Amino acid sequence: MDKFVITGGTRLTGEVSISGAKNAAIAIIPAVILSEGVCRIENVPNITDVTAITRILQDMGAVIRSVNKSTLEIDSRPIRSYVASYELARHMRASYYLLGALLGRFSHAVVTMPGGCDFGVRPIDQHLKGFSALGASYKLENGMVDVYSDQLVGSNIYMDVVTVGATVNTMLAAVRAKGTTVIENAAKEPHIVDLANFLNTMGADVRGAGTDVIKINGVEHLHGCTYSIIPDQIEAGTYMVAAAATGGDVTVGNVIPKHLESISAKLEEMGVEVEEYDDAVRVRRTKPLNKCNIKTMPHPGFPTDMQPQIAVLLSIARGTSIINEGIWDNRFRYVEELRRMGAQISVDGKVAVVEGIDHLTAAPVKATDLRAGAAMLIAAMCAHGVSSVEDIQHIERGYENVEEKFRALGADIRRVHVEETPSVARAV
Ligand code: EPZ
Repeated sequence: MDKFVITGGTRLTGEVSISGAKNAAIAIIPAVILSEGVCRIENVPNITDVTAITRILQDMGAVIRSVNKSTLEIDSRPIRSYVASYELARHMRASYYLLGALLGRFSHAVVTMPGGCDFGVRPIDQHLKGFSALGASYKLENGMVDVYSDQLVGSNIYMDVVTVGATVNTMLAAVRAKGTTVIENAAKEPHIVDLANFLNTMGADVRGAGTDVIKINGVEHLHGCTYSIIPDQIEAGTYMVAAAATGGDVTVGNVIPKHLESISAKLEEMGVEVEEYDDAVRVRRTKPLNKCNIKTMPHPGFPTDMQPQIAVLLSIARGTSIINEGIWDNRFRYVEELRRMGAQISVDGKVAVVEGIDHLTAAPVKATDLRAGAAMLIAAMCAHGVSSVEDIQHIERGYENVEEKFRALGADIRRVHVEETPSVARAV
């Protein structure tokens, strides 16, 4: 269990290159199960969530070759079982994408119930609604989800809530079903479009991804392919906010600016300069930050996965800002940590009120989840003094080479190994 020790106060300057999108990669890699050929996936981020999902596929029999640091060649033809390893899958929520992929290939899937996480209950009722609409039955017992069908048949599904996961899982189950499936009120995130493009590269017939109606004409066979994953919208946004928080001047390269529109718009509203290029954005902050209000929404709204990071920026802006968390019930756990650095934030349910202060002050803090951990890094970089950020394994789930990338921008960040102390049973 390592920690980062960060000395704040350095303006971040220079260039950073964004890696492949985590939330696209952990949907596309399971989708290879549907292929009857070898798939070469490029621009795969080197992060622990990807390691976890590839290990599950290998455990089931897939042959995965690492061509270079960001390219995998996956042959899922040797997979014979539709049961994913409980031990391997239970540690990773997104293992539930194996349900749609295994169901689509074997008409049967048995995968562990997804774990919750630090920001509230994470139901799968809409995933199960999608599978049922396609003619599958399911049972939830012994901590496993068991979904099975004699024959998946295309159908119309209206999602009660906009859900990335259920949209992905329904797409995976529908691409080889008999007939046509229409998903209404579908999620429109960039990683949904990326998955649709990958499936179509394998020979599927998926139309409308990126709109709220996705139409899928089932096909019998999907072949191998070569595909490159889109850049990570949230990694890019994290570096954009870090540049703004430190009063820096950073060019964030290898991005799709359109995916960053809501983040750029909010930064500009706060007085940050954002210049867009073909595949890069330059972020500069030369004057005090203005307050602004944030409401997290499904894409193309402001992403919930950028909420902790923007909260750090608002905590050092002039004035009072309001953050409305529109997606998750409890995504403000990180606020307790930020308060240790002097942030003036009060939380009431899904609303946070941020009173801007002149600057944060260093403190020992913890990463409570992936994006909260990224926010702690930003806070430590703009705080006065030396901070430590513990439990950085959360950050490494979704940020490739985070220490090297920030150090290359001038951050004073170093990794320190922490001996794991056996947990002491609390005196009752
Ligand atoms: C994905 O989670 C992302 N994870 C999350 O990013 C992200 O926060 C979330 O989408 C929203 O954009 C991955 O892509 C691996 P949802 P997911 O289903 O699919 C409710 C990160 O930091 N809901 O879109 O689990 C749910 O409670 C992670 O990279 C149901 O009610 O999220 C929530 O309120 C954190 N029933 C809303 O929908 C369901 O069956 C959105 O959830 C499913 C979801």
